[in-house]
This record gives sequence, structure tokens and C-alpha cells, in this order.
Amino acid sequence: MEELLFYCRAGFEKDLAGELAAEAAREGLAVYPRFVEGTAFVRLLSADGDPAPLRDAFSLEERIFARQRLPALHPLEGLSREDRVSPVVERIRASGWAFEAIWHETPDTNKGKELHRLGKALERPLASALRKAGALRGQGEAQGCRLHCFWTAGDRVQLGLAAPESSSDRPGGILRLKAPRAAPSRSALKLEEAWHQFLTPEEREQRLAEGMTAVDLGAAPGGWTWQLVRHGLHVQAVDNGPMDADLMAGGQVEHIREDAFTWMPPRPVHWLVCDIVDRPGRVADRIGDWLEAGWAREAIFNLKLPMKKRFETVRDCLDRLEQRLGAQTVRLRARQLYHDREEITVHARPARGAAD
Ligand SMILES: C[S@@+](CC[C@H](N)C(=O)[O-])C[C@H]1O[C@@H](n2cnc3c(N)ncnc32)[C@H](O)[C@@H]1O
Repeated sequence: MEELLFYCRAGFEKDLAGELAAEAAREGLAVYPRFVEGTAFVRLLSADGDPAPLRDAFSLEERIFARQRLPALHPLEGLSREDRVSPVVERIRASGWAFEAIWHETPDTNKGKELHRLGKALERPLASALRKAGALRGQGEAQGCRLHCFWTAGDRVQLGLAAPESSSDRPGGILRLKAPRAAPSRSALKLEEAWHQFLTPEEREQRLAEGMTAVDLGAAPGGWTWQLVRHGLHVQAVDNGPMDADLMAGGQVEHIREDAFTWMPPRPVHWLVCDIVDRPGRVADRIGDWLEAGWAREAIFNLKLPMKKRFETVRDCLDRLEQRLGAQTVRLRARQLYHDREEITVHARPARGAAD
């Protein structure tokens, strides 16, 4: 590998670069990010030209603004229309990479969409040439590794090699979900994606089960509440706005018309969720009140980020929460989900070993 390649939401390159720079400073790594705003990817290069320290650093699991992380080669530029395959095969041969699958990807932008057809057209010829070169192997013959051909223009591709444990196994790093027709709002997708992002399938089964309880702060019209109800939870939905009538008719939801920043639950619940549009610091502080008091065991909440310094704002909120609750007690993970727009989603759960 020669550098790291990250995918992100278009318009959030600067935030991701800031996040990577902060991590580099913490770890004492001399790196520099390269990006163009609006392109939906960030490259990370080593300042002294030695990429070895990058190999195991900047894990995807800990990233907030990245969807995918790939050890990569420097981009191949100026490819000719007549033969895009040979230069790719040459680079792969020189790199000594071996893999079991090839994915053609493009940035999650309008320009990226226009390049889909190119990847499609190159699929067969490239696979056949790389098989012949001995780089594309059979299943189980290359530790599950996958080649990513990231096309950012008709004549420019960046090659990345994904190992199963350190990269996302979703195309583009994106979890695509079908909008449930019965849900009162499209926001429902955000909570579903958050559960997939932060909980394993076993955890989802155990911790989102029939008879459990939840509070939804800023619940109306009820997309998130609908998701909780779908898993059999009983929900107290706190919002002055109107809740979806069908959802209320199900009998599992109590609508509480109060201010979410002052209302206190009569008894502790399993889950607290919150999707209120307000200052991130104010929301984070209120979540802190809940977790500190033990009113909820686990929380998922969104922080809205209409400001310029998005990474700094998020870091400040998370640091304050962690200081207040103690990293030994609570584990925080934050991610800008595919269904998040100018916002990120945070999961707070009891740290492993902390009393449940
Ligand atoms: C983005 S919407 C929530 C959408 C919801 N998650 C869904 O899936 O349908 C934000 C909601 O927060 C509510 N809200 C804002 N400030 C509030 C407050 N102080 N107390 C209670 N609700 C509040 C608004 O009335 C609005 O319904």
C-alpha cells in the first residue's frame, strides 16, 4: 500500500480530514490529508513517504465521518480510452496484491453516478486479465481480500485492497435500506441504520425485544417510535407536535406533550432515543443527564451540525460526555450514517465490564 483512501458524504471531506489530523496528532503520526471539497473522498498520505505506519492506524470502526477505509495505491491518472485495463493490471502485478473479488466503485456524488457504466463495462475484461495475471484468485485463496477500483473520472482510478476485518463489506461503505411504507417518516431509516451500524445481529435480538421500554425525545411524527414499536418495545414519545394516528392506535405508545429538555421519566427505561433539532451541546448535555441518572441503559441520538466547524463541535460534545460519564462506564461511538444529512448519530452503551 502507498496511502489510505476514505469515502465520506460529499461536502464532509474537510470534517473527515480534520478528524484524521486530530487522530494523527494523538498518535504522533506525520501524515497529511488530500481532498477536493464535494468529491466524497479523502486520501491520507504519510509525510515522510513511508506508508508503513498507516497500515494499522485510523481504523474505520473509530471513524465518525468515514464510510470506508482502504489501503490504496496512488491514483492512476491519464488512462487512455482505448486501454484502461493494461495499466491497472501492471500496477497490481507490481504491488503483488492478491484478492478474491473485484468491486468497481465511484464517489457518492452526481458525477460518480455518471461513471457507473464505465465500471460495469470494465468488469469482465479486467477480471479476466487479473485472473490470468494470478492476482484474482478463487474463494478462500487470498484471505477474503477484495480489490476496489475507485473511478473518479473516465481516465482516473484509485486501487484499494480491502481486508474483511478492517473495511466495510458494503459497496461504497453504504447500508442501503428500503424505506418502510408504513413508517410515519423517512427518519425511520436513520434509527434502523444506527442499529445495524452499532449493534451486532445478536445484540439487536437481545436488546430490542418484546416488552422492553423506550423514551423517544422529539418523537413526532413518529418514525423512530415506529421502529421501536416494530421490535415490540413500549414507547413514551415526548413531543409537543402531533404523532402519527395509526402508530398511536396500536396502543404501545404514550404521547407526552412536554419539553424534552426538562421532562423526567417516572421509571428507568431500556432505551433513550433523541432526534431533536437543537444545539448539539444542549442535546448531548441532556443525554448526559439521562445516562448519569440511570434513567436509560442505552441511548442513540443525533447531533445536528449546521455549523462550519463540525468535527470540532462533535469532538467537544463527545469529550464532555465522556469526561462526565467516564470512559469506564460508557462507550460512545459516533458515525455519520448514510441516511444522516447535516448530522451524525451517536450510540452510548454501558462499557464492557461496567455494571448493566
Ligand atoms: C426531526 S423531528 C423528529 C423526527 C422523528 N425522529 C421521526 O422519526 O419522525 C424533531 C422533533 O423534535 C421536536 N422538538 C424540538 N424541540 C423539542 C423539545 N424541546 N421538546 C420536545 N420536542 C421537541 C419537534 O417538535 C420535532 O417533532
